Amino acid sequence: MYVTAKNNFKNKPLVLQMCVICAHLTQRILTLRFFAGVLTGILFTIIFYHQKESIDKPKFRPDQSKFEYEKNQLPSDQIDRSESSSSSSSIWNSSWDGLKKMSTYPRHLYLIRHGQYFDNAASLNEMKLTILGKEQLKYTGMRLNQMNIQFNRLIHSGMVRAFESATIINEQLDTKLQLIKDTNLTEGLPVAPVPYAGISQRDADAYGDRPRIDTAFATYFHRAHNDQRKETHDIIVFHANILRYFICKIMQFPIQAWLRITLNHGSITQITILSDGSIVMKSVGDSGFIPSNKVTF
Ligand SMILES: *[C@@H]1O[C@H](CO)[C@@H](O)[C@H](O)[C@H]1NC(C)=O
Ligand SMILES: *[C@@H]1O[C@H](CO)[C@@H](O)[C@H](O)[C@H]1NC(C)=O
Repeated sequence: MYVTAKNNFKNKPLVLQMCVICAHLTQRILTLRFFAGVLTGILFTIIFYHQKESIDKPKFRPDQSKFEYEKNQLPSDQIDRSESSSSSSSIWNSSWDGLKKMSTYPRHLYLIRHGQYFDNAASLNEMKLTILGKEQLKYTGMRLNQMNIQFNRLIHSGMVRAFESATIINEQLDTKLQLIKDTNLTEGLPVAPVPYAGISQRDADAYGDRPRIDTAFATYFHRAHNDQRKETHDIIVFHANILRYFICKIMQFPIQAWLRITLNHGSITQITILSDGSIVMKSVGDSGFIPSNKVTF
């Protein structure tokens, strides 16, 4: 059979013989290239893997706190450059406050929900704290005082229950503060919640609260201005709807998600804004310092 095949081959015209030889050679070259390709691939994978490890390792450990991280961070001009080229910029906007120049000091915010109040009272001014509500805020004030922090400001909304709550907090502080009233922090309806909860976006637009609430947000949520020379600690006493909306906004979560969060009366939500624009949320609606039989929402 072999002989026959050979004879067959020899009997073919020269062009056909050449073609068969070419095909054999091509096959051999392709086989060689295939193995060379596999080897190169393995080599590059090894090199790339090692390089990637040596770049990533010293940067950030998962168990490292954000503050340790900040101590080791690059100067802010270098951070801005590296972040604008990063592919994650679409899910986190680090210059969300639009600031161009800021100082390196963090800003700490202690966001307090007022205490339980008479929500069925006939007028706004009669919607004062209940006895339990006053007791809750006493715990909140004691807790803030125990933190041993030199607070800078004590701000409250224009509503009676927030003013009363701020007053009780101030009574508990060893270093008294001057109360600052900001009517832009008055309770309202920022945006229709999703999932739907009986309030449509048309209702929300009719209330027209959003511009005022966004102004309040911009007033308190920003990185340290260029002239800030130390860390600041501000207590803000206000209301659950806009506090929940602020939480979503500062975290860059969908703002319509605010109603998915519940905040107890007198609870503390602690947020720190770092100079690179990142956010450390230390607690949301913490009320662990209030005895459980006195907790309401
Ligand atoms: C980041 O937020 C600021 C302020 O809202 C805005 O001006 C800017 O366009 C945003 N940048 C990106 C990349 O979305
Ligand atoms: C309250 O908001 C208005 C605009 O809605 C603004 O002009 C005013 O300065 C704000 N007040 C404070 C204390 O920020």
